[in-house]
Amino acid sequence: MATRKTKRSATPAALAACACVQDLEAIAKRRLTKAVYDYFAGGAEDERTLIGNREAFHKVFIRPRALVDVSRIDIATTALGTPITMPVMVAPTAYQRMAHRDGELATARAAGEAGTLMVASTIATYSLEEIAKVATGPLWFQLYVQPDRSISRDLARRAEAAGYRALCLTVDTPQLGQRERDVHNQFALPPGIRMMNFEGNRSVMPRTPAGGSAFAAYASSLLDPTLTWDAIAWLRSETKLPIVVKGIISGEDAALAVQAGAAAVVVSNHGGRQLDACEPTLAALPNVVEAVAGRVEVYLDGGVRRGTDIIKAIALGARAVLVGRPVVWGLAAGGKAGVQRALEMLRAELVLAMTLAGCPSLRSIGPGTVVRA
Ligand code: FNR
Repeated sequence: MATRKTKRSATPAALAACACVQDLEAIAKRRLTKAVYDYFAGGAEDERTLIGNREAFHKVFIRPRALVDVSRIDIATTALGTPITMPVMVAPTAYQRMAHRDGELATARAAGEAGTLMVASTIATYSLEEIAKVATGPLWFQLYVQPDRSISRDLARRAEAAGYRALCLTVDTPQLGQRERDVHNQFALPPGIRMMNFEGNRSVMPRTPAGGSAFAAYASSLLDPTLTWDAIAWLRSETKLPIVVKGIISGEDAALAVQAGAAAVVVSNHGGRQLDACEPTLAALPNVVEAVAGRVEVYLDGGVRRGTDIIKAIALGARAVLVGRPVVWGLAAGGKAGVQRALEMLRAELVLAMTLAGCPSLRSIGPGTVVRA
């Protein structure tokens, strides 16, 4: 199965003519095969959570302040002490070579040039060492605690050795959600698309059967439905790296994550790809922020597509956001240049929105900056 209809990236002029990240999605959709586009775009079952993540942003409005000196807008911040030039980080997304042959390498280079941090997926199509070698910005490594813990331990040690600064433990995936677009398309990984973190360790390499159940195969070997909170204590005993717990929706779980020693939490529902009808992330954020009570950093992902979305998330207590699909669309549209374009459009929109809202700094964005419609 081919992944792209054409090989060439969009021209610089075509990228420049994109006004927002949704425009990049339109280019990506034209360039990718239907099955690959649907894999990236889709959510679980009725896609209520996929849609709900966006709708939650639409239900919140910004209450601007007038006559504030906005001649200088400061959006630089830190994530676990690492400076980033804007409160937007790159979420882990799998199989990036399906979007562009340079895959995660292009994403890492673009994130570095944008001055932000990339979270590399366990299910990357370049190895974590290859990504670290080309990265010019900070990296975190996304991890699943697998049924065979020696595999997770090995990945954690490799990430530590390669200079990754944190482990991002994904906890919303005891099993894979049912993505019906993939069923309809009988989606299987195209030839040549491999999980490079497992190459050289054939015994742990999930088999990819022909037909539509490639994910069932990897799910059974990568995901552990028996996992409970003590997995975090175990992981902490195996690594010096801080642990970011990704996939928190309830305040109770946020408190448990802090208690278990998490250094940060990501309010996330996996971009609507796991539990359908899961609460949208922006709606869940205030509960999590309250439960965490400033003890660790809180980030949010899911449906962030606009600079104004970033203001809303920060107003409701997130320190920063992560973006998944906008980066994938940029990658599919134009490789590294496309990812850069996605990140720079979000940066420009954030600066413009803060200017118009009378918020010259991230600190000046607070609960009073937003209202519910
Ligand atoms: C993901 N996501 C994800 N998360 C994770 O922890 N490990 C992974 O390998 C992947 N893979 C993945 C593939 C694709 C195609 C998508 C769209 C998402 C979830 C991702 O990190 C993030 O939570 C969402 O993408 C955020 O939502 P948006 O920005 O895509 O709306």
